[in-house]
Order: sequence, then C-alpha cells, then structure tokens
Amino acid sequence: MERTNNTNDSNSTNNEGHPNSIRTYKLRGARITPAQEGAIERLGERFILARSATDASIDVRALFPQAKRRVLEIGSGMGEATAAMAQADPDSAIIAIEVHKPGVGSLLWRIEKSGLENLRIVHADVKEFLEEGFTNESFDEIRIYFPDPWQKLRHHKRRLLQGEFIPLLSTKLIPRGLLHIATDWAPYAEWIESEFANVVEFAGGKVSRPAHRPLTRFEEQGLTKDHEVTDFFYYKT
Ligand SMILES: C[S@@+](CC[C@H](N)C(=O)[O-])C[C@H]1O[C@@H](n2cnc3c(N)ncnc32)[C@H](O)[C@@H]1O
Repeated sequence: MERTNNTNDSNSTNNEGHPNSIRTYKLRGARITPAQEGAIERLGERFILARSATDASIDVRALFPQAKRRVLEIGSGMGEATAAMAQADPDSAIIAIEVHKPGVGSLLWRIEKSGLENLRIVHADVKEFLEEGFTNESFDEIRIYFPDPWQKLRHHKRRLLQGEFIPLLSTKLIPRGLLHIATDWAPYAEWIESEFANVVEFAGGKVSRPAHRPLTRFEEQGLTKDHEVTDFFYYKT
C-alpha cells in the first residue's frame, strides 16, 4: 500500500457514531489493474473467504486441519510480505484481511504466480468482520504490520490499535497466542505502548526485528524517509 498525502476526511461524520464504525483506512479511488481484476475473477471463489449464508463464523481449524500454525494478518496491503511469508512457511496457514480491493487482487495474483495453497483472503473491514467472522481462539498469531499511522491529532480516533479492538484481538488468539505489531511512526509506537499498558489481555513489549518478517512495501517507503521501525510482541495472558 502506497503512502499517500490523502487526508480526505469528508466521510468523518457519516455513519461514524459508533466507535466500531470509525474508518481506520484511507479513502482511495477504486482504480484496479486488469491483472488484479483478472486474479479476482479466476481465484476469488477459491481463495476469498466469506461467511456462509447461515452467517456462521469461519472455522479456521476446520479449514486448515493440518496446519502447524494458523496466522491472521490484518491490513495486508498489496500482499508482497504476506505472500513471501506464506511461501517461506508452508506448514503455517495465513489468512489475510484487507479492505482495499486492489490489494486483494494483488495478493491473489501473487498466490497464483507462486502456487500458494496456504493462504486465504477476507475482503472486509476488520473492525466489522473480526468479532463474528472467526470462531474464538482461531489463531496462533495475529500480525499487524504498519497500520495506518493517522499522524494528525484529529485523526487519532482512526488508529486501529485502541479501545475495545485490543481485547477483541485477544479473543481470537489461542492461550499464550502472539500479537506481532510493527510500525515506523515513532509517536504511534509510543501510543501502542501506552494502550497495551492499560489492558490485562496482553503482556509484552518491544522486540528486535524478527528475521521472518520481510520488508513490507510500506516499510520500504518509510525507510527512505529515515523512519525508525519498532516491532512489538504481545502475548495473550
Ligand atoms: C499502511 S498500509 C500497510 C500495508 C502493509 N501491511 C505494508 O506494510 O505494506 C495499512 C493497510 O491496512 C489496511 N486497513 C486499514 N484499516 C483496515 C481495516 N479496518 N480493515 C482491513 N484493512 C484495513 C489498509 O487498506 C492498508 O492496506
């Protein structure tokens, strides 16, 4: 996902009365490439997960009974890092959730190109999907790499990592499950530390960059601006 200077906040008051409906992602045009569109047409049915007509939650264990670990990545962007991690770790199953359609198409294209079988995608707003979308204790790990930093004070309400969303994340992890967060925006790193200091559902803090996390597209763009990256490991208590 590219960094944009888009501070378009025109929707800020529309349907945003409830904290769960506050938009955490940037509004973008629906520009999608033919390759992304084609990948959605060819592979969408098989690799994009949706809740069933009866509205049952997705049972990730039933979906990947043989997987050694089940991982959820929130905000997979264009999917380069997601596909690289799936390829490097075929014993794990990864479910990526992304709200931006071109990102979904891009990851599907990578799935096809690399013949990945251990990846699935949910095309949704995680704040709307997570609670009912997956059965509890579905995941060994949740990854959130470079969540939109929402730098301006008046946009802080849009930061994903705050309030009730943090305990909700813990319900989807197995006991002692891992939440791995990375950010390149130092004030967001401080914000994350203070948010997690106030919750009983997680314990942990800063760690050195783990070797298995590839450079993401967003991270690469930040590094050119000398942004310092912070990784956090929080374990479900
Ligand atoms: C700054 S980008 C980082 C993308 C990728 N992780 C990377 O490092 O290149 C944040 C991503 O999170 C997605 N996102 C933000 N809020 C979301 C939400 N509520 N549900 C699903 N995806 C969301 C955005 O669409 C965007 O692709």
